[in-house]
Amino acid sequence: MCGIVGYLGIQNPKTIIIDGLKKLEYRGYDSAGVAIIHDGKTKRIRAQGKLKALEDKVQNEEFNGHVGIGHTRWATHGAPNERNAHPHQVGEISLVHNGIIENYLEIKEELLAQGAIITSDTDSELVAHLIWNEIQKNQNLLQSVQNILKRIVGAFSIVVLWEKSPNELVAFKDGPPLIVGLSKDKSNDEFFIVSDVQAALVHTNRFVYLNDREVVHIKDHSISYYNADGEKLNKPESILDWSTDMVEKMGFEHYMLKELYEQPRSVANAMAPYIDTDTHTVKLTDIGFDAETVFKKIDRVIFVACGTSFYAAMIGKYLIEQICRVPVDTDVASEFRYRRPVIPKNSLVISISQSGETADTLAAVRLAKEHGAELLSITNVAHSSIDREAAGHMYMNSGVEIGVASTKAFTSTLAILNILALQISKARGALAPVSEKQYVQNLLAVPGQIEVVLAYDKYFSEAAEQLKKYKGFLYLGRGVSYPIALEGALKLKELAYMHAEGYAAGEMKHGPLALIDDNMAIVVVAPTDELLDKTISNLQEAKARGGKIISIGTGENKSLKSMSEYYLSLPHSLWTTNPIISVVPLQLMAYHLAHSLGYDVDQPRNLAKSVTVE
Ligand code: AGP
Repeated sequence: MCGIVGYLGIQNPKTIIIDGLKKLEYRGYDSAGVAIIHDGKTKRIRAQGKLKALEDKVQNEEFNGHVGIGHTRWATHGAPNERNAHPHQVGEISLVHNGIIENYLEIKEELLAQGAIITSDTDSELVAHLIWNEIQKNQNLLQSVQNILKRIVGAFSIVVLWEKSPNELVAFKDGPPLIVGLSKDKSNDEFFIVSDVQAALVHTNRFVYLNDREVVHIKDHSISYYNADGEKLNKPESILDWSTDMVEKMGFEHYMLKELYEQPRSVANAMAPYIDTDTHTVKLTDIGFDAETVFKKIDRVIFVACGTSFYAAMIGKYLIEQICRVPVDTDVASEFRYRRPVIPKNSLVISISQSGETADTLAAVRLAKEHGAELLSITNVAHSSIDREAAGHMYMNSGVEIGVASTKAFTSTLAILNILALQISKARGALAPVSEKQYVQNLLAVPGQIEVVLAYDKYFSEAAEQLKKYKGFLYLGRGVSYPIALEGALKLKELAYMHAEGYAAGEMKHGPLALIDDNMAIVVVAPTDELLDKTISNLQEAKARGGKIISIGTGENKSLKSMSEYYLSLPHSLWTTNPIISVVPLQLMAYHLAHSLGYDVDQPRNLAKSVTVE
C-alpha cells in the first residue's frame, strides 16, 4: 500500500528517491517524505498530499550524503497529515514502513512507560523507537534490527537508516514486498531497496526478491542477506527484461487511458505462450507443474481473488464448469481465509492477482497450501509473493499496470481463463478437436474486436456530460455478463465516486427495482445469446418505472436499441470471449465520467493499487 525507496550509492539520493517514488505513487498518495544524510546529519522533509507537494519542498534543498530513504503513504494508523508522514525519526534512526504492526498498542504502552516521546499517531514510529533503544546499547544497526524482529507482529516491510553510519542501510520484511536492486554494471557502487521494481528499473535490471522474515544488510560496497535466526543466506538474482517505456504514459493523458488502449496488444501477449497459431490449438506444457497430469487428476477448482480479479474468477467459474464440467467454487480471498473452508483432495486452487501481492489472496493461497491443494497462480508480476508461493504459474503478460483501476490485467486474465478452460478440458480428453479450433479462432479474433470497441472512446467522452446527471447506476447482466456488470459498477464507483450497483438481471425484481426512477441509469450488458430475451423482459420492467437504459448488445439489435437512450454495438463473438470485449465500453464510460467530473483517474481517493494489508 505504501511505496518505499531506499538508496545507497554514487548518485544523488534525492533525485533517485523522488523519481522512484513517482513510480510508486500508485501505492499510496496521501503524504510523502524523504530522509537523506547531509553533512553527517539526517535531513528529513515531509509533506501532506501528493508527491508533488514533497517535490516542491525538496526542490531547492541540498543533500551531500550518499544514502537516503523515501516513502509515499497510504494511511493505516493515523490521519494522512505531515505529522504521520514517513520517514519517522527517533534519535539517530530514520525509518520507512509499509504495512501494519498489529501489536502496536502493547509496544506503545511499554514505550510510554519507559518515558518515550511519541510524536505521531502511527504504528511505524514505534518500530523506530525499538531500534533506537537497541542501537544505543550495541551501536550495531544490523544487530538492533535482528533483536527487535521478534517483538513486532503484523505485515511490514521496513528500511532503516542510521545517521551515525552513512554508508549503511538495513531492511526487513514480513508481508508486503521489498526488492533489492543491484548495480547494473556489477560494480556494487549502488543499491536500491524498493517496494516495486518499477522504482529502480531505469537504473538496473538486476533484482533480488526478499522473502518473509528476511533481513538485508548493505554496508559500503557489500550486501548480505539473513533469515530471522540471523543465519546468512545465499539469494538468487533475477534479471528483468521490462523496458522503461512500459512504465511511462507514452503521450496519453492518464496511465489508465494508455492501459485501456494497450488492451488489444496485452490480450494478444497474454494468449501467445499458450496457443499454437498454426494449428489453432492450446498448448499443454510445463507451467511449473505438468499441466496435463495435474488437470487430468483434479476433481474441483477453487478460485481465490479480490476486487476486479475476483470478478474475473467468477467468469472463470462459468468457463470451466461449462466447458470442462468440473465443479468450481469462487471465493473472495478475505472470506476464504477465515471461514475454515473445506478443500477436498485433488482440488486445484487458482489465485488471480494482478500485483501478486494482495495480502488476503496471499493468505488464502498459503492456507490452501497447508491443506495440500495443488496451486496455480495467475499474476501479472513474475516473482511476486503469490507467484512464488504457487507451483503452477500462468502470466497475464500485460506489462506494468499503473492506473489504480485495473483494466488490461482484467481482460488479459479473461483470455487466460478461456485458455485454461480449454486446457483442462483437453487434458481430460473432453475437448473435441473441432471445438478446440473454433474456440481458439474465436480467441484470436479478440484483440481486433477490442480495437473496434475502443472507438467508443469518443462516444463516451461526448456522452459523459449527459451521464453525469444520473444519481445512480444499476449494472445488469446474466451469465458471464453478470460479473461484467459487477466490474462495470466497480469501475464507476472507484473512479467517478458515483453510486453504482451490479446485479444479476434476474435478481432485479427481488429488491433493486424499488430504486428505479428517472434519476437512475440502467447499464445492461446483453449480448445475443440464449438469455437475451429474458434480459430484455427485465429491462421492460425497469423502463416502465422510468429507468433510463444504456445497453451493450451484439451488432444491430433493434429491440434493445429501441428501448435504450444509448446503444453500443459489439462485434459478434462466442459467449466465452464476449466478456473480454463487453467490459471495454464500461471501462471507457467510467474513465470519461470520472475525467469530466474532474477526478484523478489514475489515483482515486482512498485507494491504492496494491493492497498489502488486510
Ligand atoms: C480494481 O480496479 C481494483 N483497484 C481492485 O479491486 C483490485 O482488483 C484488487 O485490489 C485486487 O488486486 P490484485 O489483482 O492485484 O490482487
